[in-house]
Amino acid sequence: MVKKNACVFISGTGTNLQVLIKSSREYNFPINISYIVSNTKNASGLNFAKIYKIPYYILNANNRLSLELILQQLKKKNISLICLAGYMKILKKKFIKKFNGKIINIHPSLLPKYKGLDTFKRVLKNKDKITGCTVHYVNDKLDSGQKILQKKIFIGSNDNEKSLKKKVQVAEHKAYSEAIIRVFK
Ligand code: GRF
Repeated sequence: MVKKNACVFISGTGTNLQVLIKSSREYNFPINISYIVSNTKNASGLNFAKIYKIPYYILNANNRLSLELILQQLKKKNISLICLAGYMKILKKKFIKKFNGKIINIHPSLLPKYKGLDTFKRVLKNKDKITGCTVHYVNDKLDSGQKILQKKIFIGSNDNEKSLKKKVQVAEHKAYSEAIIRVFK
């Protein structure tokens, strides 16, 4: 199968990145992760770039030159899909426009509920019984693009922010790869 080139943007631990790299090394998976971008050199997820020998770039998200450079790189590497995986910066409108329909994100709630940060805290405060994750296209409004796939999890009476995050991440690790398969179907 001819795989499309994809790039993953991270800011943190990169557990979704690792799962995507593993999926991408399966014969039938539609993408190859050929580039990783982080907005900070301190993201521990960058270790996966080193372990799996994938080139990476530290983006200064507020610097025009750095943004121009990354655009050039993405073009040069023929990137067909950008996967945001815990990327904590808001992408510039111009950037989204350039990659319109080619940027997807994973969010730890059942969108449109709980856009933005602190999803687990808010879910618990509202005493919800179900939450989950959403993989969606990125547009210029926060966490508002078209949904690709959602996975639900049940909230137990003993759950706290930490346990909920764990449960949702287990769901995320399945959801992201499934969503990418759906994107290329
Ligand atoms: C995930 O929970 C994702 O939903 C959110 O950021 C977290 C990233 O986790 N956008 P990781 O860096 O993939 O471990």
